[in-house]
Amino acid sequence: MKQRIHIFAPATVANVSCGFDALGLALDSKGDEMIFTKRDDSKLIINTIEGADLPLDIDKNLVGTVSKAMLRASNLNFGFDIEIYKGFKPGSGLGSSAASAAGTAFAINELLGNPFTKTELVKFAMLGEEAACGSQIADNVSAVIYGGFVLIRSYNPLEIVSLPVPNDLYITALHPQIEIKTEDARNVLPKEIPLKKAITQWSNVGGLISGLYTSDYGLISRSLQDVVVEPVRKSLIPHFDSVKKVAVQSGALGAGISGAGPTIFALSKGSVIADKVMKEMESLYAKTGIDFNIFNSKISPQGVKIID
Ligand code: HSE
Repeated sequence: MKQRIHIFAPATVANVSCGFDALGLALDSKGDEMIFTKRDDSKLIINTIEGADLPLDIDKNLVGTVSKAMLRASNLNFGFDIEIYKGFKPGSGLGSSAASAAGTAFAINELLGNPFTKTELVKFAMLGEEAACGSQIADNVSAVIYGGFVLIRSYNPLEIVSLPVPNDLYITALHPQIEIKTEDARNVLPKEIPLKKAITQWSNVGGLISGLYTSDYGLISRSLQDVVVEPVRKSLIPHFDSVKKVAVQSGALGAGISGAGPTIFALSKGSVIADKVMKEMESLYAKTGIDFNIFNSKISPQGVKIID
């Protein structure tokens, strides 16, 4: 049995406009690293957290929630020393809690000799999401575990579908340096929606998925619309409408809120357009006086992976 594992857990974009709580994708250029080392005793100890102000106390960190659940389920009597190196900030809308939760589930599963299926790992990671934001959301954690583009076809029973990723798809992510708590961003959402909006939304989800299967970028573009969540949440994100407009005018297929925000994402066909979209989004946001960072990424086909 392996004694130590060092992993990379990617940042993720959840919802992807029309697919609230149902769609997610993994990025390949941003994420966390974590190191798990087996202990002879049954203690779980977080030795290090770098890159974010998060609790070292195992009982207060979602990494503890996931680790304990996995050790309980496998009936094993040993623990781990844990090091966490955050590559992006919590409250960014890029799945920070999901990277920690799913990274933990993946790493411990590897150290235990892979007893759990991917779906089971997602379920463990969802416990971490619940600890972080009060809801067992699967979109970010599934994208970390499965990689690529995923659809949560059903929450109960949990069914995750891996979708194809067209070769030329690029993501631009602009992260204004404000924090939005997922729980708060969920509390502003309507509990019910009119049938007309529901029809628009599920038609767009179908269109987006069809576009992914056929690499039909025009169809992907027309389907990147959210009439349910974005209209409510965008008020939490300064200058959202202008950024979206400039992204689309610069050639992006579409733009929207990444997960619960505040990160704004754009999808583009090809690196040349993605670079132009990034440049225009950057120059617009530079004028707002709000600190931000911005990057381009491809979609990671693999998701979470072993470094050594
Ligand atoms: N689907 C979730 C939301 C992702 O938008 O609230 C955040 O974790």
